[in-house]
Amino acid sequence: MKKTALITGASCGIGYEFAKIFAKNKINVVLVARSKDKLERIKSELEKEYGISAYVYPKDLLADNSAKELFNQLKTDGITVDYLVNNAGFGDNHAYTETEWKTHEDMVKLNVLSLMELCHLFGKEMCERKYGKILNVSSLAAFTGGPYMSVYYATKAFVLSFSEGIAEEFRKSGVTVTCLCPGPTESNFGTVSDFGKSNAFKYLGVAKAKSVAEKGYKAMMRGKSLVYHGFNVKSMAFLTRFSPRSLNTKVSAFMDKH
Ligand SMILES: NC(=O)c1ccc[n+]([C@@H]2O[C@H](COP(=O)([O-])OP(=O)(O)OC[C@H]3O[C@@H](n4cnc5c(N)ncnc54)[C@H](OP(=O)(O)O)[C@@H]3O)[C@@H](O)[C@H]2O)c1
Repeated sequence: MKKTALITGASCGIGYEFAKIFAKNKINVVLVARSKDKLERIKSELEKEYGISAYVYPKDLLADNSAKELFNQLKTDGITVDYLVNNAGFGDNHAYTETEWKTHEDMVKLNVLSLMELCHLFGKEMCERKYGKILNVSSLAAFTGGPYMSVYYATKAFVLSFSEGIAEEFRKSGVTVTCLCPGPTESNFGTVSDFGKSNAFKYLGVAKAKSVAEKGYKAMMRGKSLVYHGFNVKSMAFLTRFSPRSLNTKVSAFMDKH
């Protein structure tokens, strides 16, 4: 019987590439995002191209109880999730006090709370079943403070710390948790977050979403707990261990400027 992967933020960017990779590997996919039309188009494309089943669950993960509703709907529909990819997320590249409070609040809700709740719901089920794999998308931003993107960096630091914690907890149940840390990547993120013209995009090199998703998929299947995408990203993350935190934050301030 085919296995099933649930991917949040599957309507474009890295999430769409994840959906294609699972489908190519003959794994059914549950596609979650707000844009129903885009998800329906992706469903047709993947079913036709790869002969798998794709299920569309349009959801705003900022809405109250959305994670629980999604979990319950899948139960009612008899769909068991073997692989969970928590990919939906957004950033905002502006000064902290100049950004609307609602934007900060929504970012924490989507990047942190929704991811946490999906790990709680599906992780519990996976641990009871003694099978499952989770991949949480963090970022190079996880390793330093991030002036002009402070909340985003903090959410990604949370994702990294949280993922490493539950990876160790779940290990004894045979469930793996992988944290993927990409750097600047071609997707809608640059526009949505206003980060696309930043020095990070200019100087670190911009990865293809497909290549980022491939790296994440391989690491997830191997059960690795942490994976970076690309030499620059890995080197930057490594260097933050040896340089003073105040210097790391200054470097990030430069990277976040445009
Ligand atoms: N691109 C980069 O440079 C970069 C670097 C490091 C980490 N990341 C991380 O990679 C992940 C994927 O981002 P991306 O680069 O692929 O960006 P993207 O192209 O903007 O994709 C974001 C996805 O999240 C979905 N989404 C946004 N708000 C949502 C909500 N309220 N409810 C449900 N789904 C929602 C979007 O779909 P709808 O609009 O249809 O809802 C879309 O499918 C994010 O967690 C991001 O932080 C990106």
